[in-house]
Amino acid sequence: MLQMLLSETLQKARGHVENNASSIGKPLFHVSCPIGWMNDPNGLSVYDGEVHLFYQHYPYAPHWGDMHWGHCKTSNMLDWTHLPVALAPDTPYDKGGCFSGSAIQVDDRHVLMYTGIARDAAYPYEQNQCIAYGDGIEYTKPYAKPVILASSLPDFCGKADFRDPKLWREDGVYYAAVGSKDISDIGQVVLFRSHDLENWSFVSVLAKGRPGMGQLWECPDLFTLDDRHVLLVSPQFMEASGQEFHCGNGTLALVGTLDPEAYELAQDTEQAIDYGLDFYAPQTVLLPDGRRIMMGWLQSWDNNLTPPDQNWSGVMSIPRELSIRNGRLCQTPISELATRRSAHVAHDVTLSGESIELHGVSGRSFDMELALDMASGEAFEIRLASSERHHTSFIIDPKKGLITFDRSYSGIYRDIVCTRCMAVPMDSGKLNLRLIMDVSSIELFADGGAYAFSALISTEHAARNILFTSKGQTKLVVDFYSLEKESAE
Ligand code: FRU
Repeated sequence: MLQMLLSETLQKARGHVENNASSIGKPLFHVSCPIGWMNDPNGLSVYDGEVHLFYQHYPYAPHWGDMHWGHCKTSNMLDWTHLPVALAPDTPYDKGGCFSGSAIQVDDRHVLMYTGIARDAAYPYEQNQCIAYGDGIEYTKPYAKPVILASSLPDFCGKADFRDPKLWREDGVYYAAVGSKDISDIGQVVLFRSHDLENWSFVSVLAKGRPGMGQLWECPDLFTLDDRHVLLVSPQFMEASGQEFHCGNGTLALVGTLDPEAYELAQDTEQAIDYGLDFYAPQTVLLPDGRRIMMGWLQSWDNNLTPPDQNWSGVMSIPRELSIRNGRLCQTPISELATRRSAHVAHDVTLSGESIELHGVSGRSFDMELALDMASGEAFEIRLASSERHHTSFIIDPKKGLITFDRSYSGIYRDIVCTRCMAVPMDSGKLNLRLIMDVSSIELFADGGAYAFSALISTEHAARNILFTSKGQTKLVVDFYSLEKESAE
């Protein structure tokens, strides 16, 4: 263990979490924070053979505040062990918060790179990139100042917003892709390089948006996947564009080729990563077995759904395996989830203008695969978390190729966004879906994971029915599994 002095701020946070951890209303498989607030996944990395996940954390209340880094780890991608809070805002250069960042293993050290929010006259700009080293539990801040200052950015970059470094090492050289904007408020990602983690120099603008595509690109992540380069960003303040991008905080995957000399991404395609109401700031890790795994924060900044009587807020998405198919970034729930499937129920039915429940198909923690044939149907609705008063729906229009989500009747009593559409190809009315529900989170994967849609509901847990309704004729094959916390093996 590292020899270090724990700051008062860190000790206080750790004590608070230990004494107040809540178990009420928690999901079975999805990472949630013990108490207080959680946003972005941070430092998703493999360290000493285990997968570590840190997250933006304010321990003291279920709303955003001075950012700490919460911490947990797993050896099977499903059961997460909470560890003591890893970082607290306790130096002059991060007193205003330890914002998002990433982690890698270097020799036996776990290296964290994060954005320090400086509240100190020594720093003309608040947001600078900082380093911490650790052993998987204790982390120390080895340098007296940030390692990349916003003041070192070229003049065409905005210097007030410069955050969320994604760190990696290639051929012995360290790289950090950092979220940024130019001086006209166009989102971009800037790249820095270092040989020792302490001295960094500017390399390039890795990629840049257009007007309407976000005024700041937060939380970048660059990786290779199936011989392509993929850049994920979370643009702030987007303008809606058809069904592809919605207003506000969005997610964007750029797939292309990285020029190895200029370090600029020549982009072939762009797409939303997740079309739902609640998904932001995803980050990835490469597992030792070669799978590229992504996790995102199931929440949106403008539509916070935390019930007022809940003393914790924040759930991560199920870890998702990434691949490229026909140029699209595709996602499927981590395959380990199959070990928690139980009580398999299968149905093969044809519905004509009726509404039915299927025997054995109900609950709030399940994994359901559906094959739909709507060639002679007009609309098909799946109602989840349904009771006399409440329900949440996916309504599928095969003619328009649209899936509409609607949580208006889920028990929400604030005027927040409740509906959103996702366009999905439905050749001859055929569509395959996989739906993962874990108490209050809903994640839909359509067309083999080529389209993902995530949303939260705060419906009372007693609402557990699932209803299928067809306008016109729909053939439906269902494979339904309840999900159990413990492995059946
Ligand atoms: C994204 C974000 C990051 C920032 C963090 C602060 O959700 O705004 O850009 O580092 O959250 O908590």
